[in-house]
Amino acid sequence: MRVDGSGRYAHKRPSNLIVDEVESTAMPPVPATHEAIAEAGRLLRAGRLVALPTETVYGLGADASNGLAVAAIFAAKGRPRFNPLIVHVASLAAAERLAEFDDVARALATAFWPGGLTLVLAARRPSRVSELATAGLATIALRVPSNAIARAVIVAAGCPIAAPSANRSGHVSPTMAAHVAADLGDRVALILDGGPCAHGIESTIVAPHEGAALLLRPGAIASEAIEAVLGRPLAMPATESDNAPHSPGRLASHYATRARLRLDAREVREGEALLGFGPEPPRPSGPSINLSPSGDLREAAARLFAALRELDASGAATIAVMPIPLEGLGAAINDRLRRAAAR
Ligand code: TXA
Ligand code: MG
Repeated sequence: MRVDGSGRYAHKRPSNLIVDEVESTAMPPVPATHEAIAEAGRLLRAGRLVALPTETVYGLGADASNGLAVAAIFAAKGRPRFNPLIVHVASLAAAERLAEFDDVARALATAFWPGGLTLVLAARRPSRVSELATAGLATIALRVPSNAIARAVIVAAGCPIAAPSANRSGHVSPTMAAHVAADLGDRVALILDGGPCAHGIESTIVAPHEGAALLLRPGAIASEAIEAVLGRPLAMPATESDNAPHSPGRLASHYATRARLRLDAREVREGEALLGFGPEPPRPSGPSINLSPSGDLREAAARLFAALRELDASGAATIAVMPIPLEGLGAAINDRLRRAAAR
């Protein structure tokens, strides 16, 4: 992307295209001027990915209400599984529209927002946030950043922003725009340069729970500061099983359907529903949904949870699931399908 003579951004492609393929050339970071922030808002609304500074680390942002845009985050990072993402909003009021706040949650939000604390709370339903952003969990991770550029981008976009750290999966989190460019420069529509991150370490993640609070990830806000507000120690998830209800991807039942799943199905049997993929699904005898007729794994990922729910609601005892390739987001799709199929 570049700025043309009129001071406007010139795009290689129309901005209503979803970010799907790798951008052909690496994007150098752009100074976070008013114009660049307005452009970031437009790109996000159009389903594109924007890397933005926060006070913790740079985030890889997408419109949290757009399943395809959220799927593009996983594709760009090369994340092998759908970890749930932190959803960034501009205010406590905006956060309260997405999650249930008890007294502990409200006290922590009042003390530390805007800032580097993420709260994992019961999600309100129905929600405008894509199930892909919350990985199908009943909870949602929320944060109100304090970084002025991040706040301005959220306001410009007018939607909640799902944003993991803006690094390729397995790399360390980026604390400068140049780190983002090195990792993801060919995979984002815009990188806003806001200088080095104030915290340079990810947010602290806390799950208020029945009057107590569980520390899920130590981070930018010190435990002692949080305990001072709570008036008692944070609870530590001592064992894997303690942690289980709060950890992403562990509870098979979150993905479990009432119907049995028959994976790698190449034909549909009498009475089965069909979860199809690609251009040539078998002729269905009952309810059927094609995750992506064109065989696009990002599109399939974006539709997966909703499709499983819908076919389950059809009442079929078994859902026949066509084979889905393992590459790219296919690994995540197959992981979820295996969890859903396991009994
Ligand atoms: O500072 C930060 O938190 C940065 C900036 C961009 O906000 N973001 C960040 O995102 O570190 P990420 O995706 O790298 O880490 C998010 C963590 C993951 O460990 C994820 O499992 C956890 O948050 N998480 C998200 N939603 C959750 C939920 N509902 N329950 C439990 N953990 C959750
Ligand atoms: Mg990360």
